Amino acid sequence: MLDLLITQATLPDGRSGMLVGVQAGRIVLVQPGSEAQAADLPAAERVDAAGLLLSPPFVDAHFHLDATLSYGLPRVNASGTLLEGIALWGELKPQLTQDALVQRALTYCDWAVARGLLAIRSHVDICDDRLLAVDALLDVKRRVAPYLDLQLVAFPQDGLLRSPNAWANLQRALDRGVDVVGGIPHFERTMDDGAASVRQLCEEAARRGLRVDMHCDESDDPLSRHIETLAAVTQRLGLHGRVVGSHCTSLHSMDNYYVSKLLPLIAEAGVGIVANPLINITLQGRHDSYPKRRGMTRVPELLAAGVPVAFGHDCAMDPWYSLGQADMLEVASMGLHVAQMTGQDAMRQCFAAVTDTPARLLGLDGYGITVGCHADLVLLQARSPVEALRLRATRLKVWRRGTLVASTPPATAQLMLPGRPGRVDFMLP
Ligand code: FE2
Repeated sequence: MLDLLITQATLPDGRSGMLVGVQAGRIVLVQPGSEAQAADLPAAERVDAAGLLLSPPFVDAHFHLDATLSYGLPRVNASGTLLEGIALWGELKPQLTQDALVQRALTYCDWAVARGLLAIRSHVDICDDRLLAVDALLDVKRRVAPYLDLQLVAFPQDGLLRSPNAWANLQRALDRGVDVVGGIPHFERTMDDGAASVRQLCEEAARRGLRVDMHCDESDDPLSRHIETLAAVTQRLGLHGRVVGSHCTSLHSMDNYYVSKLLPLIAEAGVGIVANPLINITLQGRHDSYPKRRGMTRVPELLAAGVPVAFGHDCAMDPWYSLGQADMLEVASMGLHVAQMTGQDAMRQCFAAVTDTPARLLGLDGYGITVGCHADLVLLQARSPVEALRLRATRLKVWRRGTLVASTPPATAQLMLPGRPGRVDFMLP
């Protein structure tokens, strides 16, 4: 007897009329089948997907849960720049309390679940000697574990070498259970220090058997080339498939010849890239007059070179970004527009950039819609990934380990037109 049988589902790879069966929190059946065939399968609960898209959950490869929902505390970012955001976060840090950090992060996780976002990699600033944010987010990680996978990155926001206690604090954070080694080489005082920080952090990750995810070259400076060091060190240490460069916006401004050498190196090293389109389209190019650079990394070119690229949300209502609602379809839609990825295949790659690709970069276990995977599923009010992007589709139902954890009514509008009342749902017949 199945716990749950979903019928007439369309999967992200285009297969339609699918039956998906769940037992004890795992997917135990994925096959085409009519309603009549489904009727022969005993199941405690049945859901007719009616041809709509059944997807594995959204995954956010890059977020800052310690800063989220703090917009306006203690003041707003007047210039809108990355550097004022970092300064503002520095002003806020001494005022943070563990309880407030926990409550804001839990609220964001609620938003995430409602949007079908069930895995988040969050950086956590380790430069405050109290490690308040580390303890808060480790607590949050435990509390949300039944419904959301939270992976934490030890992030030396003020610079590993630039901030006096950052190295010691990073060790303490990892000892307490933070999962991934972070860094911010472009924020060190010199290029040499940046490169040294990359080496030191990757060696520490290799020693501990951990993954690496660095804020890397979040700058419009075409000579900010720490991604090159990150890829080369990844090669040397054999960390293939375990390292991510986040942001990498300087790639946007780099010399094309240099990039033609760089992309194969990143691909050979098995380094993944996370672009954060909502944030970098607003933060980068602030020193430009016109033309203004877009400031997102070279997504289609990286993909063409065989580099896995995910889109991250990065920020929501914090010192760097005053908007956001945990909607990874909004993130992917922005990425699609900024990268001009409007072809059908390219749009499907954008959907993968907030689902399969980040799941791989995070090393999530049992992710996907195949037999044996966790029954973590999202039913969308759309019939394909492209339609989901166009509509930023409603997450009608969200299941975690086969249990319904969120539902949202279908998005429709009632028309009250004279002589022609009706209903609109924005899906073409
Ligand atoms: Fe970030």
